[in-house]
Amino acid sequence: MNVTEMKKRVRDLLDDREAVMLAHNYQRPEVQDTADMCGDSLGLSIQAGRTPAKVIVFCGVHFMAETASIVSPDKTVLLPRPDAGCPMADTITAPALRARKKELPGVPVVTYVNSTAQVKAESDICCTSANAVAVVKSIQSDRVLMTPDRNLAQYTQRYVDKEILLWDGCCNIHDRLTAQQVSRARASHPEAEVVAHPECRPEVLDQADVIRSTSGMLDHCAKSGREAFIIATENGILHQLRKQSPDKRFYQASRNMVCPNMKLTRLEDVIEALETMGPVVKVPEDVRVKALAAVERMLAVPRD
Ligand code: 13P
Ligand code: SF4
Repeated sequence: MNVTEMKKRVRDLLDDREAVMLAHNYQRPEVQDTADMCGDSLGLSIQAGRTPAKVIVFCGVHFMAETASIVSPDKTVLLPRPDAGCPMADTITAPALRARKKELPGVPVVTYVNSTAQVKAESDICCTSANAVAVVKSIQSDRVLMTPDRNLAQYTQRYVDKEILLWDGCCNIHDRLTAQQVSRARASHPEAEVVAHPECRPEVLDQADVIRSTSGMLDHCAKSGREAFIIATENGILHQLRKQSPDKRFYQASRNMVCPNMKLTRLEDVIEALETMGPVVKVPEDVRVKALAAVERMLAVPRD
């Protein structure tokens, strides 16, 4: 089958199965183009909770499918590539977090959604890159522990009066971008605005004109009067940016910002998942109930 035939096969199977296809903004272009919705982690979690579909095909990584299972336990959640993990999520485990909590009695734990369901279940509240500042501001405590991304935590620290304690995790894709690479991109395209993701290092964020989640970047670049942008995040986002604003120019801050896990899912995998109705991601009920409390507290925080 060619790409057009595969897209049609996916759409036909989605109809047959009463399924919705959700894709993260870092997915392969043809997967983004076939999905019912593309979005950031926050937008996709909200959509997973609202969709009337019986089946959710999640084109993203494992923790995203788990979040869909947490908010929609009655739906079947398919993750076409079960091997699509997240190295940042793997930097923290539930036993390690329990041990740290013992050292910090009474300190609320804010956990990035890029984490396992077990870790969310040990946390007081979740956050995403789109709402981290609002979530931390909403907490009634002078100290909070933010896990697992130290870069997101340091970014959030810039905007809140509370003391934020770090967990030493990061996204290796974002963390590998250097301030020097951003300076070089700026020198090559002096007319462009630098738009960065908060998973980047502090010295990279120091050089950014705008810091946003992936969907925040799409929103910003669509509304901005500027014509050119240097994008400091996983390069899959450039597909949506160029599709949305074909007359604007988008440059990668670095060609190396490619997440292999996000690129695993191909249309062939989506077809197989819908044909076989697997692999299914299902969070055990005892973990789900606790993780849901942390996710729902996050969803109740008003957006900035
Ligand atoms: P957002 O799309 O929520 O900004 O997340 C970025 C990310 O790294 C997801 O894996
Ligand atoms: Fe994880 Fe980074 Fe890949 Fe997102 S881009 S899935 S945070 S490794």
